[in-house]
Amino acid sequence: MPDDSRLSVITPTTNPDTPPLVGALPRTPFAFIWHYMRGGFRGHVVLMMALIATSSAVDTGQSYVLGQLVNTLAHTAGSSVNPVAWFAALCATWLTGYLFTHAYSTFTNYTQMTMRARIHDELFAYLLGHAPRYFLDQASGALAHKIRVAAQSSVTVIDYVGSNLAKFAVLFVVTGLIIARNAPDLIWLSMAFLIGFTALSAFMAQRLRGYAKASSIASSEQTARMSDTVANWDVVRGFAAADFERRTLRPFSDRESAAFIDLRLAATKMRLVLHTLSFGFLAWLAWNAFSAARTGTITVGAFTMLVTLFMLVAGQIRTFGDQLFVYFEHLGLLSDALDTVLAPHEIVDVPGAVTLQVTRGAIDIHDLNFAYADGTTVFADFNLHIAAGERIGLVGPSGAGKSTFIKLLRRQFPLRTGRILIDGQDVAGVTWDSLHHSFAEVPQSPGMFHRSVRDNIAYSRPDASEAEIVAAAKMAHCHEFISVRPTGYDSVVGEKGMKLSGGERQRVAIARAFLKNAPVLLLDEATSSLDSEAEHLIQDALLALMRGRTVIAIAHRLSTIMHMDRILVLDGGKIVEQGRHEDLRRAGGVYAKLWQHQAGGFI
Ligand SMILES: Nc1ncnc2c1ncn2[C@@H]1O[C@H](COP(=O)(O)OP(=O)(O)OP(=O)(O)O)[C@@H](O)[C@H]1O
Ligand SMILES: [Mg+2]
Repeated sequence: MPDDSRLSVITPTTNPDTPPLVGALPRTPFAFIWHYMRGGFRGHVVLMMALIATSSAVDTGQSYVLGQLVNTLAHTAGSSVNPVAWFAALCATWLTGYLFTHAYSTFTNYTQMTMRARIHDELFAYLLGHAPRYFLDQASGALAHKIRVAAQSSVTVIDYVGSNLAKFAVLFVVTGLIIARNAPDLIWLSMAFLIGFTALSAFMAQRLRGYAKASSIASSEQTARMSDTVANWDVVRGFAAADFERRTLRPFSDRESAAFIDLRLAATKMRLVLHTLSFGFLAWLAWNAFSAARTGTITVGAFTMLVTLFMLVAGQIRTFGDQLFVYFEHLGLLSDALDTVLAPHEIVDVPGAVTLQVTRGAIDIHDLNFAYADGTTVFADFNLHIAAGERIGLVGPSGAGKSTFIKLLRRQFPLRTGRILIDGQDVAGVTWDSLHHSFAEVPQSPGMFHRSVRDNIAYSRPDASEAEIVAAAKMAHCHEFISVRPTGYDSVVGEKGMKLSGGERQRVAIARAFLKNAPVLLLDEATSSLDSEAEHLIQDALLALMRGRTVIAIAHRLSTIMHMDRILVLDGGKIVEQGRHEDLRRAGGVYAKLWQHQAGGFI
C-alpha cells in the first residue's frame, strides 16, 4: 500500500535558489545546456574536466612507465634505473588513475544531481506559466515526465561532452607527441585518420539524432496514452474496459518499440563502422611499431609503450562511438522535451503590467468577441456593466457560455476583440497574479490536490492560522465531515479529491473561498452537489460572504440565485433577459419558464 501520509504535510521552501523566471529559457538543446553551465555550474564542469583529464593523463603515463620497466628488465642500454622503482611507479599510476576516476565520478554525481534539481525547479516554474489551452491539449502525466527527461538528458550530455573532450584532448595530445618523437613518419597519417574519423562519426551521428527524436516522440505518446487511461481508472472499471484499453495501448507501444529498434539499428550500424575503422587504425599503428622494433629502430620498451598507447586510443575511439549513441539519444530526448515544455506562453503579462487595485469591484465589458481555438464562438459583441458590490445571478442553458464568462474575467483565454475592465483597469494590462488575487472562485468542478484537507483549504491563503482554517471550514460546513475522520484535518483527500464525496469537495472549495476573502466572488454552480439541507445552511454563510463584494453566481437551481440584485439570463452568448427575480418571473419569458419547470418539480 502506498503511504500517503508523506503528502499530508507540505513545507514549502521559503528561499528558492533562483529568483522566479522572468524570461523564457533557451529552447534549443545546446543553448539550454549552455544556459545552465553558465549560470552557476561553469566551475563544476571545469573541475569535472580537470579530474577526468588527470585520470586520462595517468592512463597514458602508464604506457610510458611500462615501456621503461620493460627496458630496465631487458637491460636495454641507457636504462640505468632499478626495475623495482619502475614497478613501484607502475603500481602508483594504477592507484592514482583509480583515485582520480573515483573522484571524478563522485564529483560528477554531485554536480549532476544539483543541476538536475535546478532544471526540474525552473522547468516546473515555466510549465506552470502556461495558459489553459496548453494544458487542455496535453496529457499532464506526460508533462511531468518530460521535465524529468529534459533534466536527466541535459546532465548526461554535459557529462558526455565534458568527459570526452577532456579525455580526448589529453590522450591525443600525449599520444601525438609520443608518436611524433618515436615514429615521426606516422604522425601525419594518424592525424588525417583522426580528423576523417571524427568527421565520419559526426556525419553518421547526425542521422542518429532524427531517429532519437522520433523515438522520444513515440515514447511520450505512449506515456501520454497510458497516463490518460490511468487517470480515468474509474471509467475503465465502470465499463469493464481494461481489455479494450490494453488493446488500444498496444499500437502505441508497438510504435514506440519500432522507433527504438530503428534507433538501435542505426546506432549499431554506426558502431560497426567505427569499430572496424578503429581496429584497422590500431593494427596499422601496431604493425609500424612492430616493424620498427624488429629492425631495432625502437627499443622493446618503446614498442611496449606505443602498443599499449595505441590500444588506449583505439579503446577510447570505440567508447566514443558507443557513447555517441547515448549522446544523440539524449540530445533527441532533450530536444523533444524542450519543444513541448518550453513552448511559448500563450498568455503573458504585457511589458509594464501593473498590479490590479480593486477598490470597489465594478466590472465593465465592452464589445467582447470570443471564440475558442477550435472556432466555437461563445461571445459576439457582448457588453455588460456590473456595478460595484452588485450581486449577479447568471442563469441559462448548458453551453450558453456562463463558465466561459468567468474564465474570460480571469484572462484564461485570449480575446478576439473587446475589453474587460475591473474598477476601470483593463484586465489585459494588469499582472495575471494580481488579477487572480482579486477573485475568490468556487469553480464548477473544483480542483483538489492529493494533499491534506488542511492544505487544500489553506491553498487560497497559505499563511492562514489553524484557527482561521477551522473557522472557514465551519462556515462552509466542512468541519462536520473533517472532524469525524480519524486523521482530521491531516486526512489526505486523494488525487483530484477522490476520497471526498462530490458535496464535500464543493464545501472544501467554498471554505477556500471564505479564507481567501477577495473583493470579487465568482461562484460557478458552487452548491450544485449539496443536499437541500446543506445547501440551505451554506447559503446563509455565502450570503454573509457576499456582503460588500461584487458577486457573480452561476446556478441551474434558480432558488439559489433568486435573491440576487440582478439576474442575467444568458443564451447562446447573449443576455436575453435581465432583472430581479420577481420581475422576470412575472414577465413570462425564458426565466419564467425555467422557474415554472423547477417549481413544477423537474429539477
Ligand atoms: N476549451 C474549450 N474548447 C472549445 N470549446 C469549448 C471549450 N470549453 C467550452 N467550450 C464550449 O463553449 C461553450 C460554452 O461553454 P461553457 O462551459 O461556458 O458553458 P456553460 O454555460 O458554463 O454550461 P454549463 O451550464 O453546462 O456549465 C460550449 O459550447 C462548450 O462546448
Ligand atoms: Mg459551466
